[in-house]
Amino acid sequence: MVNTILFISLCLSFACHHVVNSLSVELDQTTLAGSDPSFVPDFNNRYFLKDGKPFRYISGIFHYTRVLPQYWALRLRQMKAAGLDAVQTYVFWNIHEPRPGVYDFDGNHNIIHFIKLAQQVGLLVILRIGPYVCAEWDLGGMPSWLLTHKDIMLRSKDTVYMSYVYNWLHVILPKIHPFLYSKGGPIIMLQYENEYGSFGGDKTYLSNLVEYFNNIIPAKDVTLFSTDGNSYSLLKRGSLTNSLLATIDFGIGTNVQNSVNELRKYSYGTPFVNSEFYTGWPDVWGGEHQKRPTEGILSTLNAILDANGSVCFYMFSGGTNFGFMNGAMLKGSEYSPWITSYDYDSPISEGGDLTEKYYAIRKFIANYRNVILPNPPVGDDKVTYGKVTLQYYGNIFHDYKDSFKIYTVKTPVPMEFFNQSYGYILYETVFETGDCKSNLTTTVNLSIQDRGHFYVNSELITILDRKSTNVTFHKNCSITMQVIQIMVENMGRINYQHRSVVNGDSTFNHEHKGIIQFQSDELITSWMITSFDFHHFMHDTLKRSEFYPEGRTQYCFYQGELPKETGTQKDTYVHITSPPFSKGVVFINNFNLGRFWPAKGPQKSLYIPGVLFKTHSTNYITLFETDNCIKSTTDTTVDLRDVPDLG
Ligand SMILES: *[C@@H]1O[C@H](CO)[C@@H](O)[C@H](O)[C@H]1NC(C)=O
Ligand SMILES: *[C@@H]1O[C@H](CO)[C@@H](O)[C@H](O)[C@H]1NC(C)=O
Ligand SMILES: *[C@@H]1O[C@H](CO)[C@@H](O)[C@H](O)[C@H]1NC(C)=O
Ligand SMILES: *[C@@H]1O[C@H](CO)[C@@H](O)[C@H](O)[C@H]1NC(C)=O
Ligand SMILES: *[C@@H]1O[C@H](CO)[C@@H](O)[C@H](O)[C@H]1NC(C)=O
Ligand SMILES: *[C@@H]1O[C@H](CO)[C@@H](O)[C@H](O)[C@H]1NC(C)=O
Repeated sequence: MVNTILFISLCLSFACHHVVNSLSVELDQTTLAGSDPSFVPDFNNRYFLKDGKPFRYISGIFHYTRVLPQYWALRLRQMKAAGLDAVQTYVFWNIHEPRPGVYDFDGNHNIIHFIKLAQQVGLLVILRIGPYVCAEWDLGGMPSWLLTHKDIMLRSKDTVYMSYVYNWLHVILPKIHPFLYSKGGPIIMLQYENEYGSFGGDKTYLSNLVEYFNNIIPAKDVTLFSTDGNSYSLLKRGSLTNSLLATIDFGIGTNVQNSVNELRKYSYGTPFVNSEFYTGWPDVWGGEHQKRPTEGILSTLNAILDANGSVCFYMFSGGTNFGFMNGAMLKGSEYSPWITSYDYDSPISEGGDLTEKYYAIRKFIANYRNVILPNPPVGDDKVTYGKVTLQYYGNIFHDYKDSFKIYTVKTPVPMEFFNQSYGYILYETVFETGDCKSNLTTTVNLSIQDRGHFYVNSELITILDRKSTNVTFHKNCSITMQVIQIMVENMGRINYQHRSVVNGDSTFNHEHKGIIQFQSDELITSWMITSFDFHHFMHDTLKRSEFYPEGRTQYCFYQGELPKETGTQKDTYVHITSPPFSKGVVFINNFNLGRFWPAKGPQKSLYIPGVLFKTHSTNYITLFETDNCIKSTTDTTVDLRDVPDLG
């Protein structure tokens, strides 16, 4: 730490000062009358040229989809007050095109509103269009309905994939075109693909992609760039030519000079940009809660800036994987979904609080640039509303199945083929008990993604996961027909995976959810499928039910009225403990807040943005519990507190 401080002050008094001054002067300068605004990388001087003057940026990532829009302006102002020049975000294709040709740009999907707010606050904008974005987001941001096309190859020049990419780019790029810096807007750069070098080296795919971009937005209008890991080989595989800007990413403790050398080896005159400088790290269910120390961030940041780097904090503002939007990773071959919180140990927390890390980074930037920053605006305090008792509201099989969409098919296929993208799916069939003399058991051989419950005549036979294959159970020879029910949860599609170099295939192409493969000893000719996508959840359609199916202790609802004080719309955290609860989804009124799984951890509470509460009518909290439905209502409470528990 002592070394770092010494280094900063040395830097301030000599070499860097020159740069800092020119930057701060440049930032305040308005465009000269008559000359168009311009932003380009300068491959001779390893800087950017903004309106003809040397420029580099300190920026931070804030994903609009992960924060409700009522909070966007405040967070952007907090980023500005930390001394940032720009905000970066991915653009999430799957939330904008939920069905092929059907588009959504409302609420927290209103990216144009986000861009306008950033400009009002005085931040430049860097958009990472993808179409693949990773981001710990379902299928890395690609729509899951792509998987209904047999043999589709995502992130490749495959014609089916590319035709949907083409359509999507023809929707998103014209929308943002008027907001480019060269047109008087805040957007200085657009990223194509994302860390493609870690996936494949298909240059035809990359050049087709860039061609699509340039056919819609002329190359002179905006700087296109790629981001890859900090090595020559990844850069070479993941970026197109060295006439386009290639940037790298790395976290704390990295040897910055080595990274710069790798970049120079690839593109000698390129400006050095770390597009993902990790302030924290995401968590998986069942894993340790991740943190990254502030001292490490400051010392690596110092080294990046001293190397004349531009930088982007990933993340600067945390957020939430609301609903079912979390992705998953493979730990070795182990499927590991990300938790609901995307706090990320960020400078601005999931709930919008300014952390010590925020203040330390802000102070560092003010010193480094020798500028005085405005005081950051702060949001309202979080509130402890106290304990809420929930009532049992019935079992989904018994009380609610009929109000969801039902299909009849000959063989079980994944949810995507029923136009279902997220949530739970139930497969039901009957089979004839058959030969009870020579064998008293029967076996079905199946694969599911990701987790499920297998019932025969309402009795739980086993809990399934992605590794399950055979399920063997007793036949009941005193009856002729037996009922099989298989309920499967989609826990989030893998968002990051290598491509096989052998045949170009990747896990992405096989992230269908539900039953993936099924065979049985007995003849089965018909299935009934129920889609529980909770797309339009209506808490007021739930009804108290006294019926408690014997032995069926999964998939039920609990609901409670929240205290009147929630009408103040102050943020809070709902703490859900195991027992009595185990795993499921929480709704506030009709909003799907996300998954809870206290039995697994590390996350034990969920952030509730106060704007979800109604001001003049009763507020409801509903739990859909999938693992541990208990009869007693005396101890089914949740606790609304002013602090989170992320483990
Ligand atoms: C940073 O840029 C300045 C101005 O162009 C230059 O004099 C200096 O050598 C550069 N420093 C490094 C480490 O590249
Ligand atoms: C899925 O949606 C398409 C239209 O996008 C429709 O043609 C098809 O019938 C739907 N499939 C099912 C199973 O509802
Ligand atoms: C059960 O018996 C039937 C009829 O004899 C036979 O076709 C089937 O393969 C047997 N199943 C097993 C698991 O042994
Ligand atoms: C059961 O499934 C596994 C894994 O998919 C497979 O290896 C095995 O051959 C299957 N058994 C039968 C009888 O199909
Ligand atoms: C599954 O059952 C089949 C017989 O039905 C058997 O051949 C196969 O080895 C079993 N697989 C596993 C993984 O137990
Ligand atoms: C078989 O089914 C009969 C009739 O439903 C039931 O009474 C009996 O308990 C069942 N036996 C087993 C072993 O599940």
